[in-house]
Amino acid sequence: MRPESVSKYKPFPKVELPDRQWPDREITEAPIWCSVDLRDGNQALINPMTVDQKVEMFKVLVAIGFKQIEVGFPSASDTEFEFMRRLVDEGLIPDDVTLQVLVQAREHLIKRTFESLEGVPQAIVHLYNSTSTLQRKITFRDASMEDIKKIAVEGTKIVKGLVPTLPGTKVRFQYSPESFSDTELPFALEVCEAVQAVWQPTAEEPMIMNLPATVEWSTPNVHADQIEWFSRNLKDRESVLISLHTHNDRGTGVAATELGLMAGADRVEGTLFGNGERTGNLDIVTVALNMNSHGVQTGLDFSNLKEIRDVYERLTELPVHPRQPYAGDLVFTAFSGSHQDAIKKGMDRMDEEEKWGVPYLTIDPKDIGRNYSKDIIRINSQSGKGGMAYILQTEYGLDIPDKMKQVVGNTLSHFADEKGTEIEPVEVYEAFCSNFVNSEAPLKLEQCKVIRESDDHVDCFATVVYKGEELELKGSGNGPINAFVNILTQLVPKDFTVSDYRAHSLNKGSDADSVDYIQIRGDDQSTHWGVGIDASIGKAGVLALITAWNKLHS
Ligand code: KIV
Ligand code: ZN
Repeated sequence: MRPESVSKYKPFPKVELPDRQWPDREITEAPIWCSVDLRDGNQALINPMTVDQKVEMFKVLVAIGFKQIEVGFPSASDTEFEFMRRLVDEGLIPDDVTLQVLVQAREHLIKRTFESLEGVPQAIVHLYNSTSTLQRKITFRDASMEDIKKIAVEGTKIVKGLVPTLPGTKVRFQYSPESFSDTELPFALEVCEAVQAVWQPTAEEPMIMNLPATVEWSTPNVHADQIEWFSRNLKDRESVLISLHTHNDRGTGVAATELGLMAGADRVEGTLFGNGERTGNLDIVTVALNMNSHGVQTGLDFSNLKEIRDVYERLTELPVHPRQPYAGDLVFTAFSGSHQDAIKKGMDRMDEEEKWGVPYLTIDPKDIGRNYSKDIIRINSQSGKGGMAYILQTEYGLDIPDKMKQVVGNTLSHFADEKGTEIEPVEVYEAFCSNFVNSEAPLKLEQCKVIRESDDHVDCFATVVYKGEELELKGSGNGPINAFVNILTQLVPKDFTVSDYRAHSLNKGSDADSVDYIQIRGDDQSTHWGVGIDASIGKAGVLALITAWNKLHS
């Protein structure tokens, strides 16, 4: 924004609450959750969901564990009305799920809403009208505070009067002073208490006061102050459940909800992945998983988040951003070498630890259905030895010796640098093989037979091709590697020693491949690693030795 434009705006007023208590509180238990995907979320879509799509989304929400679901605005469109009928007629409403329906404080709309509830066992009728200064002035053309309060009170009376028309339905009541976030607090309280006086809720049968941040105008601490102020000043607080409904205009909808819970709210409305008007509603997935990550149970199950996301993207036609907390493709991924190294070390330690503690990862990606090898470590030119080793180990079972990792990391980084884009695990493997495994030049092993004569005597009979010539050679030693060192000295006078060695099997089972890693040190003090992979243990060692020797001699 240009500096001269900034002067057009004014600071948001603070709440006078010097003894505010929320900053010292922690979130230790989950609120009542209400999904508004099928209403607020649906209202914000380019192509609102069809009845079939709403049914599919409803089933997903039920499977996640939502017990309160705002299913729509049945007086607003035939689709919404028809959807209600489908839920009832096809018996899709579980016994423990309450349907919530939104309605403006207007008689004919309230009546139509009640008609839509025919046959619904448990319902929340959600009445709203706008209360803020801006809405009173602009939308309602300078309506007075009294006029606005009257709309709320009259609407509540109509809802109350219609309850007996639904004898088979347990009707609960919710009121939203829409645009609460920029309503003068004493006025919001006055309207809500007037509504409360009509409805007459009790501690046993509380009503819901939903306090929407219809537009997020302030920092989340101001939202928390508003909620704490309201909660502390409301009469008969125990007869009311305070509900949060944050939008995300400033990008802090999640923070506002979390601080609002600390400020005393009992209930949270939001949507999957934050879909909703403008910058969206509160992202319930993030808030719930944030709680899980602090050891708090939520009653919501996001263990198959990828599948939930797939359905969501299909039905809303909105993509989930790759950096969206928990759900985005890249949110557990480390490309950078130092991060990869720390993650690998952390993952290796997890077997011994009781509580989660892996650098850079707030939760175990597996707990929400993510895949370690595909999601956590991906390789590009920023990556390092830890990441390469991790891919080779998790995808291909290669447990590279620590001392070899740096050399492998350097080689593969160079490869990634040249390619300039991400390299897939298979490319990591292929680059590793072409640089370190079973090399054939200048020396190629054609055949090799290892005969163990005694515990400390092995004969090795080998057919090799060296500098274009096929040779049949025999060497002896106390093991296959020593025996082959003896063969190599027949080709070139001995100019190295074996300085490191490690072997493991590649697969479990009888036809396991053996992997041998050998480091040799040349007389010139240079070191070279070679890897041999073969079904025969003895031959794998020989191939590793040849590969290292080829590096010294090429
Ligand atoms: O954001 C809002 O104020 C709303 C109300 C209708 C609750 O969605
Ligand atoms: Zn909303």
